[in-house]
Amino acid sequence: MKITVTSSESEFHSRVAWRIVEQALRRPESVIGLSTGRTTGGVHRSLAEIHAGHPFDVSRMTVFNLDEVTGVDREYFGSCYYMILHEVVLPLGIPMEHFLMPPTRSDDFARECTDFEHAIAARGGIDLMVLGIGENGHLGFNQPGTPFGQTTWLSRMDKDLDTRIRRETNSSAEADLGGITIGIRNIMHSRRIVLAANGARKAAIVRAALQGPVDPSVPASVLQLHPDCEVILDSAAAAAL
Ligand code: GLP
Repeated sequence: MKITVTSSESEFHSRVAWRIVEQALRRPESVIGLSTGRTTGGVHRSLAEIHAGHPFDVSRMTVFNLDEVTGVDREYFGSCYYMILHEVVLPLGIPMEHFLMPPTRSDDFARECTDFEHAIAARGGIDLMVLGIGENGHLGFNQPGTPFGQTTWLSRMDKDLDTRIRRETNSSAEADLGGITIGIRNIMHSRRIVLAANGARKAAIVRAALQGPVDPSVPASVLQLHPDCEVILDSAAAAAL
């Protein structure tokens, strides 16, 4: 694992964004996996700025988000589709047919998981996977305890996110919300991984994931076993290492 510690918030965001640019320049038909959240929101803004200042070819690039909320409308501003569409796909002008996402609503999520996995595989698999990390070590919606061999599946969200999404979408307590996510196994099959974490609230889990035992109780710890994984941190997230 390569660990890169940045010295400012703007350097943190642009360093991660430049990893995406480098991948796109090296191989314009790359398949790039993205993540939503506060961490990557800043990365995506930086990516859009870099592209606006130094346009590069995105006409053959494929992007997808590693997970998606289910049981809500796709047009909801908190869906991963909506965030990646507005943060990355539209600002860069990536063709819509190169934006892969599972639907938020379906009567057969098992089939949607298989279809999503096959769509990524049909384009040659993941060249670069950009990950954030949950404070409990989750990757996508792979919560603690998820087996490392897990493939794309319909998981549950953590309680806080479930509560926030119910509030923001006015969903009833009975509404069946969940999260489709590529599994740990799919993440590990990426040719290259960049894990991004910033802020003091991530310091403890960054230490557990990078320097603790490799164990499903901390899903991100599996990344210690990946042959080409870079962890990009700000100084607050790196403080406990
Ligand atoms: C969410 C997402 C993850 C994301 C993580 C961290 O639950 N499903 O893909 O990486 O939490 O989010 P944040 O960057 O807001 O801390």
